[in-house]
Amino acid sequence: MNFRRYTDSVFEFHHKTNFINGENGSGKTSILEAIHYLSLTKSFRTNNDSEAVQYHRDYFNVFGEFTDTHDKDLLINVNYSKADGRSLLLNKARIKRYTDIVGLAPVVILSPGLQKITEGGPAERRNFINRIISQTDRDYFLSLIEYKHRLTQRNTVLNRYRDRKHYHYDAYFEAQDEMLAKTGKKIDKGRQAFLIAFEPIFKAIFKRIKHIDSQVEICVKYNIKATAKDYTDKFMNSLKERFERDVVSGRTSCGPHLDEIIILYNDREIRQIGSQGEHKLVLIALKLAEGAYLESFKNEGIIFLLDDLFAFLDSEHCRNIVLEIGEKNQSLITSTDLKELKKYGFIRKSDEFKTINIMTGEA
Ligand SMILES: Nc1ncnc2c1ncn2[C@@H]1O[C@H](COP(=O)(O)OP(=O)(O)OP(=O)(O)O)[C@@H](O)[C@H]1O
Ligand SMILES: [Mg+2]
Repeated sequence: MNFRRYTDSVFEFHHKTNFINGENGSGKTSILEAIHYLSLTKSFRTNNDSEAVQYHRDYFNVFGEFTDTHDKDLLINVNYSKADGRSLLLNKARIKRYTDIVGLAPVVILSPGLQKITEGGPAERRNFINRIISQTDRDYFLSLIEYKHRLTQRNTVLNRYRDRKHYHYDAYFEAQDEMLAKTGKKIDKGRQAFLIAFEPIFKAIFKRIKHIDSQVEICVKYNIKATAKDYTDKFMNSLKERFERDVVSGRTSCGPHLDEIIILYNDREIRQIGSQGEHKLVLIALKLAEGAYLESFKNEGIIFLLDDLFAFLDSEHCRNIVLEIGEKNQSLITSTDLKELKKYGFIRKSDEFKTINIMTGEA
């Protein structure tokens, strides 16, 4: 209610594939956004909740009824008011911590803005894997927070030393760096374990959706090249060695915050050579692999929110992707043209999907 252009609307979805059709601006992405709120208590297109409140209103509320794999109903309300902020209800009871709701109805989102994962710089891919690992490995999540905090603090003190022209490595940094290196080691361990499990899933999905034979690979340039045994020592030595340079620049120039995750497409970096469609296919395979990986931890079906899935893709790839998802997961796929779907040959058994048409004037 009062969410974006929807004043008071109810949608019911099929437990498998849902095609949401409508013209530009009709409100397709807003539906996915509302479901994202119910899963993660936030939007995927803004950090500012008030943007989702309908113009000239003071609040929105989104209500969702989910059925889990054990046929148990789950009722989630996410309410936001400009005056009082967010409030959350689980099965009609008020809850205080957003973490009590997050992930109960797990979603994976694909939206045009996320193409930066394959097209953008290394930070985009680090964030992508950090977010997945953090959802399944609490130790990694906490280490990541601690590492970021220590790194920011280290850089602040480096700047202070530069102002004082103090270029000597001292006992203060020695003690701080030991803690930073120990935390960094946990991140390294978590990333390596994750990639061992994730890469084969990603490769297998890509192979199934790509009709022309081509292959993908994830290659990581770890900034600290070390074994688990000597990681802390090597990282500390590197910090010490680079200290003078780091004081001059005011930044820490080594550590797992600079690990580079490279996605190779037929042995070349996709970031440099990928066509629009190839970028899209790789992103889709990454996102479907994210869903499959999370599902193995959660014991709960993942809902795929696929905004503008078909843009840049040829009909055969579209069909492969819909078949790949449709087998077992629930998915909501937006599209601007129902004719497109027919053209792509989505003529499956009608009890396996639902088409929802959104009219521009409807709210
Ligand atoms: N807070 C708001 N209140 C009312 N209307 C809004 C609000 N925010 C966005 N809109 C409008 O809602 C409409 C639907 O937006 P949405 O992004 O969901 O459309 P869409 O169907 O995904 O379009 P496209 O096909 O172009 O991606 C747009 O016209 C937009 O301007
Ligand atoms: Mg849209």
